Amino acid sequence: MDEETRLIRKGSAPETLARTVNPPIQRASTVLLPNAASLYDDNQLTYGITGLASPAALQQALAELEGSPDVTLYPSGLAAITGVMLAVLKAGDEILVVDSAYKPTRRFCDRVLTRFGVKTTYYDPALSPEALMALATPATRMILLEAPGSLTFEMQDIPAMAKAANDRGIITLIDNTWAAGFYFKPLAHGVTISVQALTKYVGGHSDCFMGSATTMDETIGNQLGNAMWDIGWSVSPDDAYQMLRGLRTLAVRLPRHQENGLKVARWLQQRPEVSRVLHPALPDDPGHALWKRDFTGACGLFGLVLKPCSQRAVHAFLDELKLFGLGFSWGGYESLAIHCDPQLKDRTVPVSLEGPLLRLHIGLEAVEDLTADLDRAFEALRATT
Ligand SMILES: Cc1ncc(COP(=O)(O)O)c(C=O)c1O
Repeated sequence: MDEETRLIRKGSAPETLARTVNPPIQRASTVLLPNAASLYDDNQLTYGITGLASPAALQQALAELEGSPDVTLYPSGLAAITGVMLAVLKAGDEILVVDSAYKPTRRFCDRVLTRFGVKTTYYDPALSPEALMALATPATRMILLEAPGSLTFEMQDIPAMAKAANDRGIITLIDNTWAAGFYFKPLAHGVTISVQALTKYVGGHSDCFMGSATTMDETIGNQLGNAMWDIGWSVSPDDAYQMLRGLRTLAVRLPRHQENGLKVARWLQQRPEVSRVLHPALPDDPGHALWKRDFTGACGLFGLVLKPCSQRAVHAFLDELKLFGLGFSWGGYESLAIHCDPQLKDRTVPVSLEGPLLRLHIGLEAVEDLTADLDRAFEALRATT
């Protein structure tokens, strides 16, 4: 053969690979089939878009976490939520969405689902299961749950809502990112589809995006898989490898986030500048009883209502933080802070808090260093009017 051809053909993928601890990262669009009959054999993997070794290994490991063999991977957490909706909803359907849902979920409902003839009604996270079901019409196809709620951390009676919805033939979908699939098991509590942004605690290092959806319902599982094909989404093998690496230490990282988070939350409760801490694992939180009944732990994310103060004072507080980064997302090993008030304006049920709302993510740093950082920031807040 000519040198040109030899340079192209030599050194291609080996027939067999050495056995290693972790799965190989196979980067491939083309999958080479053994013979002509295999090209159209539905039982063979014929194209890289459906995921090769590392996404398949991640799906297997997530199946253990979620308690269901049916795990679909998406390029981001938001894509998991929107991908599920695109897979199961149709024109004429109505959905009930908790008002404290992750804000971009709401954007998708308002900007995209409306164009496809799906109507969204936002409901108060404080509604009882009966009051929620009273909002359902014959066209209601899905209820979207999230507990604790994004930014405001309200708990919901998920098992009762899932049962009531199921009795009426309505699908329940939960964004279970806060519990990371670890501290709450939605499928075991009767929820139809559980989604999480793996970007947060499963990844755990703030460096990669992915989402997952899981269900015990075989028909819905097929719909989710088919929608991935139909839309043309896939996840990168490198990202799947990163997620798998994060998943291996999830069960040792989360208890530390929980412990650090609760220590900082209790410290904050004693501060004169703080009105309330929104954290369902604190005994005086309104959602504590539900959290204690249904969850086995808490992550490091919670809210903090300051006593009334100016926006300048809030900015002075945040700008003084050295150890806490100012940034969205969460679930990495590092501590983060944001202020939330601009995001609360779109809620249907007005949120009335005594003062500005902040959200903290408590990472794996030493708690004394974190409280020292917050202490300095409170000094800056007090010095600003
Ligand atoms: C509760 C919740 N769900 C979903 C997402 C979306 O995850 P991603 O950033 O991977 O799209 C986020 C991101 O912040 C979130 O906080």
